[in-house]
Amino acid sequence: MSEVKQEWIDTAIEALDKAYVPYSHFPVGACLVTESGRTYQGINIENASFGLTNCAERTAFFKAISEGERSFTHLVVSGHTPDPISPCGACRQVMAEFCSPDMPVTLIGDDGVMKSTTVEGLLPYAFTEKDL
Ligand code: THU
Repeated sequence: MSEVKQEWIDTAIEALDKAYVPYSHFPVGACLVTESGRTYQGINIENASFGLTNCAERTAFFKAISEGERSFTHLVVSGHTPDPISPCGACRQVMAEFCSPDMPVTLIGDDGVMKSTTVEGLLPYAFTEKDL
């Protein structure tokens, strides 16, 4: 499993200040790393029509995918939570679409509390193209 870089952690934590969260006041930040080493920062973006909210993880993925990126090596997610932040089910499904099952995911809470897992660890027995 590739080691998480401090720079990626900093990018995910710095994103917290940019999150658009006027309704939940629950900022989430993400840093998605590509095979070439490029990083894409993500924030959650809420809407007065609550269901339109886009999570930080998916913002990072959609920024990267729309720039033509297809190969990812690490995802860092940060939140102001006592335990490491736990990605939602929709974001886990998007991770399963674009990442290998063993891709490392680093989850960060307050005070630097950290958990290392993988895409498959977050979504075992995922529904993917193999199932179609
Ligand atoms: N949120 C994320 O950005 N990522 C997750 O994985 C969990 C939830 C956001 C959505 C909403 O803006 C706020 O957290 C509260 O649900």
